[in-house]
Amino acid sequence: MNEQIKALQAEIDAFVISNEGELDSFRNQFVGRKSRLASLFDELKNVPAENRREVGQALNGLKNSAETKFEEAQEAFAGNTADFEVPSDLTVYNPISQGSLHPLTKVRARILEIFNRMGFSVSDGPEIETDFYNFTALNFPANHPAREMQDTFFIEKGAGEIQDDVLLRTHTSNVQIRLMQHQKPPIRSVMPGRVYRNEAISARAHCLFHQVEGLYVDEQVSFKDLKDTLYHFAKEMFGKDTKVRFRPSYFPFTEPSAEMDITCLLCKGDGCNVCKGAGWVEIAGAGMVDPNVLENVGIDSKKYNGFAFGMGIERITMLKYQIKDLRLFTENDVRFLKQFN
Ligand code: PHE
Repeated sequence: MNEQIKALQAEIDAFVISNEGELDSFRNQFVGRKSRLASLFDELKNVPAENRREVGQALNGLKNSAETKFEEAQEAFAGNTADFEVPSDLTVYNPISQGSLHPLTKVRARILEIFNRMGFSVSDGPEIETDFYNFTALNFPANHPAREMQDTFFIEKGAGEIQDDVLLRTHTSNVQIRLMQHQKPPIRSVMPGRVYRNEAISARAHCLFHQVEGLYVDEQVSFKDLKDTLYHFAKEMFGKDTKVRFRPSYFPFTEPSAEMDITCLLCKGDGCNVCKGAGWVEIAGAGMVDPNVLENVGIDSKKYNGFAFGMGIERITMLKYQIKDLRLFTENDVRFLKQFN
């Protein structure tokens, strides 16, 4: 036993610790609970009783010297920054990569900014809505086929039983109604938000997407006001060379109704895959607020009139950044998201 102690002491004394790896190896061999030194302690019980005290003291001495050597080396490394290079210009050194805003967030902010400058406030409303706010008050007659155009998700009461009058809003037009119930004209507001439709997910459709709706109610609002507002918006959003056109359309809550197209940004109107050869892409639905809608919320439709419009934020983002697949917005692939720094 004494021989072994001497041999180990010699090894400990001779061990050179010059880097972190050697420090670890020293600890494993001589300091830890599974070290060679620890196993010598285990053998102490086999030493004849009369020698045990002496051998025990020698072992303790060995242990102390190993621990002291280990602690000294550890301390020396703690203060050693030799392998960490301090950059000469600290303002350049930025090891943390920064996140960025989602493209939809950026485009929504830009849309709101453009309308804010034209005097539109921002309003918000619930995503879980009743039939009244999503359809009835907006002049969708009961059982009218226009309700089916919107592929509504109805909410279950429990145990699979569908509650007909509670649903996920299919458009942000519910906020028009809530706003007009609470505010007297003049009203000039935009309403951004998430909307839901029961559609199969593909490159061109999703069961959830985002809209910004606008509402202007005052005395003597004209269709020209609507066109000018949207025309100005298109130029601000897509550049001053952008052309727009209005086509007649139908929505239950506006009369007359229109859809607005802009010149395709990819082919500049020549015709390509994105605009399906037309040279134009639709970006908004719009129209003069139907007098029935005003009456439904207690606004005198003889005194007041207004216009409304609605657009999809995804569609505008896809055109602006030439994104061809709607699914990219919700997949959270950092390779996609990183491009919008
Ligand atoms: N709410 C309509 C839709 O989602 C868009 C729209 C809003 C049309 C306002 C006209 C006026 O399809």
